Amino acid sequence: MSDLTPHDSHGNAPERLGYSPVADVPHAPRMADTDPKAARRAERQVAAMFMLSMLLTIAFVVGYMTIDKTSIIYIPVFGDVGTSTFVLGLTLGAAIFLIGAGAIQWAKKLMPDVEVVQDRHDLSSPASADQEALANYERGKSESGFARFKLIRRTLIGSLALFPIALLIPLRDLWTAPAGSPSPADLLSVTLWHDGLRIVTDPSLMPIKPEDLPIGGLVSAIPEDLEEVQELEGNMNARTKAAIILVRLDPSDIRAQQGDGWDYQGIVAFSKICTHVGCPTALYEQRTHHLLCPCHQSTFDLADAGNVVFGPAARRMPQLPIGVDEEGFLVARSDFAEPVGPSFWERG
Ligand code: FES
Repeated sequence: MSDLTPHDSHGNAPERLGYSPVADVPHAPRMADTDPKAARRAERQVAAMFMLSMLLTIAFVVGYMTIDKTSIIYIPVFGDVGTSTFVLGLTLGAAIFLIGAGAIQWAKKLMPDVEVVQDRHDLSSPASADQEALANYERGKSESGFARFKLIRRTLIGSLALFPIALLIPLRDLWTAPAGSPSPADLLSVTLWHDGLRIVTDPSLMPIKPEDLPIGGLVSAIPEDLEEVQELEGNMNARTKAAIILVRLDPSDIRAQQGDGWDYQGIVAFSKICTHVGCPTALYEQRTHHLLCPCHQSTFDLADAGNVVFGPAARRMPQLPIGVDEEGFLVARSDFAEPVGPSFWERG
């Protein structure tokens, strides 16, 4: 329950506004409420701020059109800064500040000065509720036998105290690698791809001929012997590292590749694993040749060597050189030339 009770500083008693006062707090009227001269002075102050803001906006426009963008001035503390940057920032910032300051002055000095009192109910619980909670706690303690079964109590406390260690220990792998283990860069630098290895569709494992892929078409693919390798090695990482996408571009649209002639008649192959934190990418926009990662919107330009054009990825998408074998099926020409997957290990 609450009761809003206004006090009006313009001579209106709270009762005249239809409310009953609940707190007898003396209200001090402002100068502008009682002295017409002070009110006019406040009006002029506010208007002056708005007018100065207008002049600064005009100065911003003039500065924008006339200041040489290459000129530099020395500002103490900041050092050498562009004249244009300094003048435009100062005029626009001050113009916005003065609009805000004028509005605050207007509200503080000239708008109706009404105080509102809001009553709140007592926030503490009644004594009966406290008693009931205490009784519930005691009953639970006695029924569970927590106090009676000392051995259980102690072993429970011990297990709860030790359990967080199991959660903390794995964190150690974030900054130390087991002795002799390869670095992430080494692990991600080698995949199953090698010269002559056929490219097959994922998951139907069909070999692909260039004519199967129209311009703008995209196919997810993996190495032909991947299933075998996985069975032998039980290595799911092999699949992840070797996953690629094949996209067919008009050869005249290809502006750059990671190696000369790495496409086959406009078909390019790129790792499917985003170089940001490793999400699989497969959103391709034919018109722009952009490959988009759905996780954090990193965007790679497949017509320009897989370079990053947007988003948090710090490294381009690795390209796989491809060709065809004697039967006309698409094959890899070698492994990737750069590590696949996230590039966290490059940092620091
Ligand atoms: S994983 Fe691709 S943008 Fe983050």
